[in-house]
Amino acid sequence: MAGCCQEKTIDMEKLDALIKPYQGQPSALIEVLHKVQDSIGYLPREVQVRIAKALGLSLSEVFSVVSFYTRFTTKPQGKHKICLCKGTACYVKGAPEILERFEKELGIESGDTTDDGMYSLEVVRCLGACGLGPVMTVDGTAHGMVKPDKAMSILKKYK
Ligand code: FES
Repeated sequence: MAGCCQEKTIDMEKLDALIKPYQGQPSALIEVLHKVQDSIGYLPREVQVRIAKALGLSLSEVFSVVSFYTRFTTKPQGKHKICLCKGTACYVKGAPEILERFEKELGIESGDTTDDGMYSLEVVRCLGACGLGPVMTVDGTAHGMVKPDKAMSILKKYK
């Protein structure tokens, strides 16, 4: 089913070791979130609970920061990260058709990861290459003037 890829088991010992130096320091929240996400890959609820407790914050305070910054994610990420631009220039040049194709063929929507853990999809606003629209990136590499067929063949190269 779309967007319900297997949750990974979190290594709580590793997590506690990452958090320990910041015990009782609520001002270190963003730094801790970065470190934990870089290490574990995402910030599910159970991880946020652990961080909140250690830093002396409420879960809602941690959650509000996690949900505010697009850099943070609560879902496991795929091996390859796709960003599809749906800014105005890309939108009028056909980004919606590409998104539709991704949703149909990969079975995911923006913010999801495929069941096999291969791809994560994020729809973004302007990648700064409007003249080349529609634009997508895969693992940070930009691809311009993409059409639905081309988008799918680009993805196959990353498999
Ligand atoms: S609108 Fe897509 S790159 Fe600017």
